[in-house]
Amino acid sequence: MLNKLKTNASKIALEYIKKNQNIIGIGSGTTIINFINMLGHIKKNIKGIVAASELSIKFLKKYNFNIYEINHINDINIYFDSADEINNNMQMIKGGGGALTNEKIIANFAKIFICIVDQSKIVNYLGAKHPLPIEIIPQAQAYITRIIQKLGAKVKYRSNFITEHGNIILDIYNLQILDPIKIEKYINNIPGVITVGLFAKRPADILLIGEKNLSVTIKYNNTFYNNYLYKYI
Ligand code: 5RP
Repeated sequence: MLNKLKTNASKIALEYIKKNQNIIGIGSGTTIINFINMLGHIKKNIKGIVAASELSIKFLKKYNFNIYEINHINDINIYFDSADEINNNMQMIKGGGGALTNEKIIANFAKIFICIVDQSKIVNYLGAKHPLPIEIIPQAQAYITRIIQKLGAKVKYRSNFITEHGNIILDIYNLQILDPIKIEKYINNIPGVITVGLFAKRPADILLIGEKNLSVTIKYNNTFYNNYLYKYI
């Protein structure tokens, strides 16, 4: 059922891709794999793709998309990705699949961030259901764990998982994230942290929610709506 809701939202996402679409960015996870399978049908419209994970690249290759490395491009018009949780301000927890660092780079690079979710991902506050992942340098594990525990949270090492950058992930439980920008900045500043899976300073611009009644809700971020909507879409 959830897959159907994601597919419905993804169909709307496809409509944001123009006939002569320049380079787009693609995230990672089951929603995005599903989206890639749909993108395959309009491949001829898309000049190339930057992807956040090797898994996404593997699926993109099935359709012979031109794949670009982040370092080799100057511009990304639209970034499509999903989230583990998203709040009313379109700030997110991401990194369930462990690709958070590349996802954050591409999200910040892109002019427009379109987030595709089913309604189960919508929360009143971040940290409500899903742990907050952080990618860290292995040598800093004990130190970072102690600092995060001081926030009253529980820290769990993600076992048998190494990121594409050769690092490890800590999943933070029981952290009620009421001020996402402040927490993002705080955790980012701990030495040894590569990326925190809080996407608060750079929220999504457009949110597509596949609803249980099979409709799709479209939400625009206020800043984006005021500054960019008519320029890019
Ligand atoms: C991967 C992510 C994904 O976007 C997030 O985990 C959601 O995944 P899914 O589409 O499988 O529900 O951040 O790092």
